[in-house]
Amino acid sequence: MSFKGQHILSVKQFDRDSITRIFDIARQMAPYASRKKRTRVLDGAILGNLFFEPSTRTRVSFGCAFNLLGGEVRETTGMESSALSKGESLFDTARVISSYSDVIAMRHPQAGSVAEFAEGSRVPVLNGGDGANEHPTQALLDLFTIERELAASGLQIDGMHIAMVGDLKFGRTVHSLSKLLCLYRNIKLTLVSPAELAMPDDIISNLTNAGHQLVISDKLEGHLNADIVYQTRIQEERFPSKADAEQYRGKFRLNQEIYTRYCKSNTVIMHPLPRDSRIEANELDNDLNLNPNLAIFRQADNGVLVRMALFALTLGVENIVKDYECAV
Ligand code: CP
Repeated sequence: MSFKGQHILSVKQFDRDSITRIFDIARQMAPYASRKKRTRVLDGAILGNLFFEPSTRTRVSFGCAFNLLGGEVRETTGMESSALSKGESLFDTARVISSYSDVIAMRHPQAGSVAEFAEGSRVPVLNGGDGANEHPTQALLDLFTIERELAASGLQIDGMHIAMVGDLKFGRTVHSLSKLLCLYRNIKLTLVSPAELAMPDDIISNLTNAGHQLVISDKLEGHLNADIVYQTRIQEERFPSKADAEQYRGKFRLNQEIYTRYCKSNTVIMHPLPRDSRIEANELDNDLNLNPNLAIFRQADNGVLVRMALFALTLGVENIVKDYECAV
């Protein structure tokens, strides 16, 4: 697959070869991300960073990734600061912003909105999350993290056991990650959620058709002895009301005591973040912060590498990054 000029809208676009290519480029980005080396390969290029829904990691790491490649970032944050709030269409917004930008990253609360926007764009659009639908760059960084963390124990994605926990209905990161895992072999997936927040049926079917072994439960106990535990937040913003979300808060708390009792000694804990640290939720307790198998911040760090790789690939500069090195 050639990435140059392509939108990145869904993980369905990828096969294993393209993932290998993205991860190869991501690894090559490490010295630039840590500022041991510097490149100006995107000097003069502009990222339109459009976030119509709250974000910390995705928005800032897209911006940092672009800056680290020498480009500049123009941001719009919040619907109210955009003419979308005056009734302008996604198509018109895309036509205009894409003439000011070389590439666009976008998050929007409605499923399918980023793809609709991309139809009007004259430059590549990278989906930073569209409602409960997809979060493809998060899925790539999650998979990149899983590969790295498992390698430390001599394991691979093929044949691993992953437990996904929490709000599997509205959590777009677990949707995208599950779709990517369909490209791999012999995975055991344990899906732990309240029945009302179960993984959507179409994703379950995809996983089953991929030959993976599925265990579905509404209990945490006895289901955490996996290689990876991927915890998620109750996605309050996608429920009809706060009260609807409230009934599920705090149901699947993971803390050091539960880890010691139910996980393997080397179970890697992941979470796309943000974790809800309010006492009534607290799905991933701070007492795990000193646990060396807590990979959540390594996961966030990896987001910069993967997003640098995606910018380099979609703008077709992945092979000339070195040529534009300059003094640190
Ligand atoms: N993981 C993630 O999407 O985080 P943000 O909402 O902070 O971007």
